[in-house]
Amino acid sequence: MKRSHPHRKCSLPAMFVSLSALVLISISILLFLYRPSSNSVSAVAAAADPGSSSLPELPRFSYFISGTAGDSGRLRRLLRALYHPRNYYLLHLDFAASDAERLDLAKFVKSEPAVSLFQNVMVMGKGNLVTSKGPTVMASTLHAAAILLRKAPNWDWFINIGSSDYPLMPQDDILHIFSYLPRDLNFIEHTSDIGWKEFQRARPIIIDPGLYHSKRSGVFWAKEKRSLPASFKLFMGSALMILSRSFLEFCIWGWDNLPRTLLMYYTNTLSSEEAYFHTVACNHRDYQNTTVNHSMRYVRWDEPPREEPANLTARDFDGMVGSGAPFGHSIPENDPLLDLIDRKLLLLLTDKEKRNPGDGVVVRPHSGSKRLEKLVVTLLDSHNFRSRQCK
Ligand SMILES: *[C@@H]1O[C@H](CO)[C@@H](O)[C@H](O)[C@H]1NC(C)=O
Ligand SMILES: *[C@@H]1O[C@H](CO)[C@@H](O)[C@H](O)[C@H]1NC(C)=O
Ligand SMILES: *[C@@H]1O[C@H](CO)[C@@H](O)[C@H](O)[C@H]1NC(C)=O
Repeated sequence: MKRSHPHRKCSLPAMFVSLSALVLISISILLFLYRPSSNSVSAVAAAADPGSSSLPELPRFSYFISGTAGDSGRLRRLLRALYHPRNYYLLHLDFAASDAERLDLAKFVKSEPAVSLFQNVMVMGKGNLVTSKGPTVMASTLHAAAILLRKAPNWDWFINIGSSDYPLMPQDDILHIFSYLPRDLNFIEHTSDIGWKEFQRARPIIIDPGLYHSKRSGVFWAKEKRSLPASFKLFMGSALMILSRSFLEFCIWGWDNLPRTLLMYYTNTLSSEEAYFHTVACNHRDYQNTTVNHSMRYVRWDEPPREEPANLTARDFDGMVGSGAPFGHSIPENDPLLDLIDRKLLLLLTDKEKRNPGDGVVVRPHSGSKRLEKLVVTLLDSHNFRSRQCK
């Protein structure tokens, strides 16, 4: 796998040099701060070794792209925007979608030439019953991670994508910047300062009928409230994250009892998808030091904040680009903003201009990698990284 330079503008070699210098600075900051397990030490060392002129090895992502009834059009568009031959993709339409819609999506996937060449996209044949804000959301995410661990070899990070998310830079840029990072970092926005959520989330007890009924309905509340846990500390944050393979193996294989105990605890908690991984990582010494307090999504909240983040529109374009985040959340279906992103940020080619799918294995970083690099350097610098872990 080689990364070649884009053949576009003449200033690009210069840009590439300054970029590598910045990456090296960030890596040395990282080396100084980070005392990870042995496999990631070698990853950083390989990246920072000035004697080796070769670029660090490119990672692979596994994407879980999930939607509900009527979302198959959005999932197709997402797959096109996120597609790269190195990665793996698991597409899921939940129980509310019809079998016909699921079949249609599977047919579309089969008809994409690159996909049939690289065999790296799977469509879940059956939809999970997912109750909004119920533990069935977590169950579905863990199910997807388990499938990807079993069916897709050697990926490094798991990224959950909903139908209203969208990438803000080409995969080449994200792969390039992540190639410099230790493979056990987990991007999870989190805090233990849960504020109002103590009374709205931690104390109420809910039951998700999706666990035992075969029809979708809402969660219901028990009359009793419970006290805050004493044997572990609660952490909450964003449900959008990037998780390392090693952390997901820890959560799913369950050789340590913590992930299982917490999963059972969170069965009765509202919006457990905004707390489960956060609490597991922050309550285990092997994972506390791997957390980076950022979701890697651009999200805007209304003032005063409502329960859901604001829908992004074309007016958010500059803010999105300035943030350096690789993904945006949330964008309504067919919003003109998506066309703008396709054209200006993803540099998506029309069907006619598409390179031959075999070409896709070459990674050519564009300007998006500079934006992402800046964000990553900020997140990993000494003011932000350690001081914002599991506090
Ligand atoms: C995590 O980082 C802290 C602060 O640098 C350090 O004291 C601690 O030993 C590290 N824990 C592990 C398990 O590496
Ligand atoms: C975002 O857009 C969707 C679809 O157009 C709409 O249903 C939803 O209420 C909007 N959300 C907010 C926070 O405005
Ligand atoms: C993580 O970042 C959020 C928002 O930037 C902040 O409110 C929170 O306190 C941070 N968490 C920790 C553990 O520092």
